[in-house]
Amino acid sequence: MSDPLKSETHSNNFRRLGETEIHLSPIGLGTWQFSSGVGNLGKFWDPLKSDTMTGIVKTALNSGVNWFDTAESYGDGASERNLSTSLKSLDVTPGNVIIADKWWPKQRKASSIIETIEERLKCLQGYPIDLYQIHWPESESWLRTEMKMLAQLVDEGKVKAVGLCNYNRRDLKRAHRQLRKRGIPLASIQMRYSLAHRDIDRNNIMNVAKDLGVSVIAWSPLEQGLLTGRLHDNPESINNLNKHRVEMFGFSPQRLKQTQELINVLKKVAERHHATPAQISVAWLTQFHGESVFAIPGASSIEQAESNCASMLIKLTTDELGEIDEVSKSL
Ligand SMILES: NC(=O)c1ccc[n+]([C@@H]2O[C@H](COP(=O)([O-])OP(=O)(O)OC[C@H]3O[C@@H](n4cnc5c(N)ncnc54)[C@H](OP(=O)(O)O)[C@@H]3O)[C@@H](O)[C@H]2O)c1
Repeated sequence: MSDPLKSETHSNNFRRLGETEIHLSPIGLGTWQFSSGVGNLGKFWDPLKSDTMTGIVKTALNSGVNWFDTAESYGDGASERNLSTSLKSLDVTPGNVIIADKWWPKQRKASSIIETIEERLKCLQGYPIDLYQIHWPESESWLRTEMKMLAQLVDEGKVKAVGLCNYNRRDLKRAHRQLRKRGIPLASIQMRYSLAHRDIDRNNIMNVAKDLGVSVIAWSPLEQGLLTGRLHDNPESINNLNKHRVEMFGFSPQRLKQTQELINVLKKVAERHHATPAQISVAWLTQFHGESVFAIPGASSIEQAESNCASMLIKLTTDELGEIDEVSKSL
């Protein structure tokens, strides 16, 4: 396997993660789908075969992706194990790809950030954690204590950088301040962000993150398949989707109607680029705000991974970025 961090062809596209020394491809691979059906969050996806997961990881690496997003809660460690097993079987040397992992805070105190890190590293089978994120803002400890624990992990060399997910604007600023006092930059905030879900553009998280030098990582950038247009083309297929996903994303005939015009514009732009609506969606996310936003599309198949990663090859024009912005911003 080629060394993704040293690849001449791809490294030109890498962008800096916040104010850290970590450089990432605009797209990372989301690996919630690697949960093997285990636990509360595993219920959202059918288990994937190990060959499929290895194929998805290989496709991502071959397409110039140099990082992977996983979490403790994705199958209670299954995603971390499946990801690292795939990397091992592809002979990827630990340290030659970037891993973003997450601590699960619900019904836990911040001390568990320290107590559980060895378990996370064990599940990753020798692959170090580059970015360690708090998965949700709802632990049983104060934010200040959470930041203290994250900083301790950086100081001890257990993780290289730290980030948040799903925090509000006020807590984003507070977390940034607390870490700065300890000399550590807050690298990123991971938020639900797609052309059909632009809350962070409206509630100012985007602007605050930019002002603070914190990267935004867009989760569910395809709105779990909605932005491919495949549900619009075949509305009955909603009935075959996993019920947890239907509930979380509000897939319904009304939702399809509401987003139809966006899909029409995406299809029109896609045709011009010999691309798909999904590829245009991901390209827009990683280009509209300059280099501030990374996207981490998940894939249930090798073909999906191949198609999603290829969106890094698309360059949208200013007019196209504006037209897509216009039709999506009121949704
Ligand atoms: N921090 C957080 O709170 C948080 C929350 C959610 C997710 N995440 C992260 O973000 C990643 C991405 O989010 P996500 O997986 O929820 O949503 P997503 O990336 O928007 O959607 C992924 C799903 O969409 C479908 N899909 C993807 N590419 C496709 C293509 N090219 N053509 C047709 N269908 C395609 C597949 O579903 P089918 O199985 O139906 O084909 C795939 O499993 C996750 O893997 C995870 O790492 C983080």
